[in-house]
Amino acid sequence: MNSQAVRAAVLNGGAKLWGQRMTEMPGAMTVQPTYFEPLAGPPGLAAVIEVPLSIAPMMDRTDRHYRYFMRQITRHTLLYTEMVTAQAIVHGDRDHLLGFTPLEKPLVLQVGGDDPRMLATSVRAAATFGYDAVNLNVGCPSDRVRSGNFGACLMAEPEQVADCVAAMMAASPLPVSVKHRIGIDDLDRYEDMANFVSTVAQTGCRHFTVHARKAWLQGLSPKDNRTVPPLRYGDVHRLKQDFPHLWIEINGGLTDLEQVAEQLGPVDGVMVGRAAYDYPYRFAEVDRRFWQADTAPPSRQQVVEAMLPYIDHWVRQGLKLNKITRHMLMLFAGQPGSRLWRQILTEESCKAGAGVDVVEQAMGAVQRQDAIQVELGQVQPRQVQLGRNAQPLATWS
Ligand SMILES: Cc1cc2nc3c(=O)[nH]c(=O)nc-3n(C[C@H](O)[C@H](O)[C@H](O)COP(=O)(O)O)c2cc1C
Repeated sequence: MNSQAVRAAVLNGGAKLWGQRMTEMPGAMTVQPTYFEPLAGPPGLAAVIEVPLSIAPMMDRTDRHYRYFMRQITRHTLLYTEMVTAQAIVHGDRDHLLGFTPLEKPLVLQVGGDDPRMLATSVRAAATFGYDAVNLNVGCPSDRVRSGNFGACLMAEPEQVADCVAAMMAASPLPVSVKHRIGIDDLDRYEDMANFVSTVAQTGCRHFTVHARKAWLQGLSPKDNRTVPPLRYGDVHRLKQDFPHLWIEINGGLTDLEQVAEQLGPVDGVMVGRAAYDYPYRFAEVDRRFWQADTAPPSRQQVVEAMLPYIDHWVRQGLKLNKITRHMLMLFAGQPGSRLWRQILTEESCKAGAGVDVVEQAMGAVQRQDAIQVELGQVQPRQVQLGRNAQPLATWS
């Protein structure tokens, strides 16, 4: 471990805390200090977020169970939490809001807020819990968020954002990044965004994720604000040209790995949101393709196997099965048996007492469908061995 990494490990106390937290989990937890090592890019903690690909923060989607599931598919893609408000972190149940399984790392906590002191407290909490970085949400257009004066409306207040970011950066050694839009309402010229970024960058913040759509704060729902305003990738590319020393990550409307690869010329990184949720298995190739990993991607069945002990653990803790399986519904998208997989998981997972056997049953249905296809000569046979004692692809507890 390099000296900065050691400092971070000591300062954030993360390893100790995980050790305590994980005693609730079955089996012995091995803390991996290498989590603090940069994966790529220049040395230092910031390298953890200077990666080619990340999965976007998404409320009600990128919770810990989704993240654990995605980690069975890709080891390296940077993952984000859902947005958590600084107010909730200051006043709420932090274990519930911030708890995660170490295997989810590298992991960024996304926070929302406009109060530098509360945001600084949030960053300290993130460091204590062992997050790798913290991201400030300046892109969410929802009424609720706007009424709290945070999210996308803060693009009109670059100095306020700079104060927030400065306080966040002073609170811990964790890297701090900002996720924002290319504009809001009538403040939507390239120059407005460049002024925003330049003001915030004066704090020393060097990581910006840009959703390449403006947001209309009046009149469009959050959902419409993700589809109606046109994508302007050119503005994000120009931002990188004008601020070559900053790490610029592009986001919005990118759905497959070819598109990701194309963007990795004009900008430094790519963040994918909805496509990562709707087509999770598209990420199976990314470790090899963008991190030059030499391991073969897991099969979909291996992903299911890897989830079984995790699911079993949580169900035994009293969690409803569908809280986990809802994130797995699209694993077989486009494959024979996909409909049956979704149907069984959807109908059976919410029943009282539902456990891993439901997932095994759904997997069995996919296999039978597969066998029929093989018999018809439509697909190649797959090697499948299922069982609840199957080992996860990576050790999580
Ligand atoms: C259901 C949903 C929830 C979202 N929640 C958040 C959030 O909590 N924080 C945030 O910065 N963006 C959030 N977003 C926006 C995404 O992070 C991303 O910027 C947007 O979906 C565009 O990327 P995409 O076209 O790849 O999906 C959300 C998007 C969706 C679809």
